[in-house]
Amino acid sequence: MPKKIRLGILGGGGDSLIGVLHRVASFINDNYVITGGVFNAEYDESIKFAQEIDIPTNRIYNDLDALVEAELKLPKEERIQVCSILTPNFLHFPMAKKLLDNGFHVICEKPMTTTYEEAKILRDTLKKAGTVFAVTHTYTGYPMVRQMREMIKEGVIGKVHKVDAQYYQGWMNPIIHDKEKRSTVWRLDPKKAGISSCMGDIGVHAFNMIEFTTGLQVESLLCDFNYLYDDNQMDMDGTVLIRMGKHVKGVIRASQVATGEENGLSIAIYGQKGGLKWEQENPNYLYRLNDPEPLQVYKPGHQYNSKLSLDGTKLPPGHPEGIFDAMANIYLGVARAIRGEEYNDGEFPTMADGVRGLNFIESTVASHKQGNVWVGLD
Ligand SMILES: NC(=O)c1ccc[n+]([C@@H]2O[C@H](COP(=O)([O-])OP(=O)(O)OC[C@H]3O[C@@H](n4cnc5c(N)ncnc54)[C@H](O)[C@@H]3O)[C@@H](O)[C@H]2O)c1
Repeated sequence: MPKKIRLGILGGGGDSLIGVLHRVASFINDNYVITGGVFNAEYDESIKFAQEIDIPTNRIYNDLDALVEAELKLPKEERIQVCSILTPNFLHFPMAKKLLDNGFHVICEKPMTTTYEEAKILRDTLKKAGTVFAVTHTYTGYPMVRQMREMIKEGVIGKVHKVDAQYYQGWMNPIIHDKEKRSTVWRLDPKKAGISSCMGDIGVHAFNMIEFTTGLQVESLLCDFNYLYDDNQMDMDGTVLIRMGKHVKGVIRASQVATGEENGLSIAIYGQKGGLKWEQENPNYLYRLNDPEPLQVYKPGHQYNSKLSLDGTKLPPGHPEGIFDAMANIYLGVARAIRGEEYNDGEFPTMADGVRGLNFIESTVASHKQGNVWVGLD
């Protein structure tokens, strides 16, 4: 088998936010070659962008249907093997379904679909396809988040009893307060984003981080949203009380109007013997609270870290690695899975995480709309 995996990109054009993160991540560990795709809804734009970044234009297609039809005619050893779906949310489901139905591996941006129903259909489709499916909850790829997961699994903080995740951004603030502007952003259009803005876009990352690090599942939640304006259908801010068991409780706080905040994702997990805290904006520091001992700081690349954490570090300690590397770690895990190599199930979020995410998003909206009541997750 040739060394590099042939990767197609859907969305992620030059006008996008997330495209560059995936392109760089796919390149970092020398596992992938971008072979073609559909970068934009407009064919001319896709071609122009492919020329800009020096990707051969003969494998740039008008749409996904054309890509699948043409690629399936190619010999297997030339065909695109995996596609990354980086489009606005409403296209994730139809694109992922078509790819799985035709035997491709898929790397899909979050939220995986726009409804829980679609997510469950996709889960069944994957069972039949038997290919690899990853959901890019990027932050799980950071070495110190992986370390947090492994330390909790080993019992370093004892039995978990309190979880607290916060994801605060402020970028929606100038948009939401302007009546004209708030009708132009796809993230505020339920037809394109799904039923939730704040929880669908960022709260779902916080939710995934809690389940990823603790290995526990949220059983029920109670949510209170702020929509800010009566004509706005999408939540801008939300506070979610969560129960992960009779004596494991916590909170997810998410906001797109936390004025002045940038990408303030943080997570704290407390157990009987101590706590662990991590912040996305300072990702190379994992704090271990160990009452009555002094605070300890764990950093990437040191041999005291777990195998899973060390696998996500490329340079010696003290060479800061960041968001591109976190996404690259996810791409590395997916490459191993595609090649049939051994990998740790903490290396990339899967279909199961995508389905849980949609279950969470819909439950937050149901809880708020029913008058801030407790809602059970499946
Ligand atoms: N993992 C993360 O941390 C993270 C961060 C940001 C965004 N995202 C997710 O990534 C996805 C894209 O977000 P974004 O901020 O990059 O959006 P964006 O609006 O900046 O970019 C979307 C891209 O999709 C292209 N596109 C639109 N319709 C298309 C079609 N029919 N075919 C092909 N391309 C098409 C657009 O031209 C554009 O290049 C969303 O689902 C979002 O939730 C994830």
